[in-house]
Amino acid sequence: MNLLIMGPPGVGKGTQAKIIKNELKIAHLSTGEILRKEIAMGTKVGLIAKDYIDKGQLVPDQILLDIINDRIVLPDCKNGYLLDGFPRTLGQANGLEKIMRSLNHSLDMAISLTADEDELINRLIKRGQKSGRTDDTPEVIRKRQKIYWVQTAQILDFYQNKNLLKNIDGLGEINEITNRILAVLK
Ligand code: AP5
Ligand code: MG
Repeated sequence: MNLLIMGPPGVGKGTQAKIIKNELKIAHLSTGEILRKEIAMGTKVGLIAKDYIDKGQLVPDQILLDIINDRIVLPDCKNGYLLDGFPRTLGQANGLEKIMRSLNHSLDMAISLTADEDELINRLIKRGQKSGRTDDTPEVIRKRQKIYWVQTAQILDFYQNKNLLKNIDGLGEINEITNRILAVLK
């Protein structure tokens, strides 16, 4: 099964993806985590990505498409994969479609988690007190929310038009939300 999970920063993409990947025995690919690893390793991609991430801006599409292109062919993706935080632009959504088509992969569902902005900002400010993430500062947290609505939300229509979109309420206990996701996957 090949899935993607999207939604604004702090909505619980990573939290849910870590549980769902175990339930479905598929790989979890978080582009945010991949980029943070590249930064920690001081790679060329990491050096470019750092500037964008620290400002809460999106890293250029081609970098993300190259990462995904290389990643979804690895053996751990054989049973399927759950993309977390990718795609985030129409360019990435179209690029992903092209890559998957060339590999004969198909997307089964796009899960969109939702929550109100006050809750999201509270979660991230709380997380920022210990996460060490350079983008978890109040100013950048607000910027990331804005960027989601300006640059990413339009891909909801892209997947809705393909009948792949499932909206899931991201408010409540973590296990309640997991159960909502598992229910639509059945
Ligand atoms: P990324 O790492 O993807 O960050 P994000 O989208 O901003 O989202 P977060 O990881 O902060 O939130 P989440 O939805 O995963 O929530 P989480 O489960 O952690 O991207 C970071 C940056 O990398 C981007 O800004 C961009 O620069 C770059 N980037 C990444 N992908 C890119 C792409 N495709 N294109 C271009 N650039 C890209 O939960 C948040 C907090 O809430 C946690 O503390 C958690 O414990 C808590 N929580 C979770 N669920 C609940 C619940 N139900 N109730 C209460 N608290 C909860
Ligand atoms: Mg995340």
